[in-house]
Amino acid sequence: MRIIEVNSYEDLSRKAAAIIAAQVIGKPDSVLGLATGSTPIGTYRYLTEWYKKGDLDFEKVRSVNLDEYAGLGGDNDQSYRYFMNHNLFNHINIHMENTNVPNGRAEDLQAEGSRYDALIAALGGIDLQLLGIGHNGHIGFNEPCDEFVVGTHVVDLGESTINANARFFAAAEDVPRQAITMGIGAIMQAKKVLLIANGPDKKEIVEKAVFGPVTPKVPASVLRLHPDCTVICCFQKA
Ligand code: GLP
Repeated sequence: MRIIEVNSYEDLSRKAAAIIAAQVIGKPDSVLGLATGSTPIGTYRYLTEWYKKGDLDFEKVRSVNLDEYAGLGGDNDQSYRYFMNHNLFNHINIHMENTNVPNGRAEDLQAEGSRYDALIAALGGIDLQLLGIGHNGHIGFNEPCDEFVVGTHVVDLGESTINANARFFAAAEDVPRQAITMGIGAIMQAKKVLLIANGPDKKEIVEKAVFGPVTPKVPASVLRLHPDCTVICCFQKA
């Protein structure tokens, strides 16, 4: 695991975008695993900027997102599909049909999980997976639990996750109580993993994940077993 600590969110965002840019330049038809949350917004801004300058081409890129809230469709401005369209996909030349987000409105979410895993397999797996980290150590929506869940699955969101994500909703009651998330299997099978963490409130959990025991109680700790994982963190106040 490579750990890069930087002093500003801008620096974090530029470095993360540079790693993704290098992946796309080296393999134009890369399968990018993408993440939501406030942390990757700056990274997506740099990727957009470099695309507009002509330095990056997403024509052949395919993408798979980590997760989606149960019950929210892409037209809902709190959905992760909406987030991805507005923060990245609408601004670059990726083909929308090559972008994938789990369908939170699928009638049978378990079946949607199996479909999503089959899709990732059909794409040949993920070349580079971008991750944020929750305050409880979650990656995607893999919440702390008793064992790592391998496949894409439905999760009950924990209290701390609901509270942390409430800032994006009108009220905490509006945060969906369930989500569908890629499991630890697809994340660990990604050829490269890039985790980004920003802010003083993420310091404690990043240290636990990086230096503590590998345990499903801190889902991000599993990344220590990944052969090619980079962590970029900034613990400064904004
Ligand atoms: C959500 C997402 C995660 C993300 C986390 C942290 O729970 N499902 O993938 O890593 O938020 O978000 P932020 O970057 O806003 O702290």
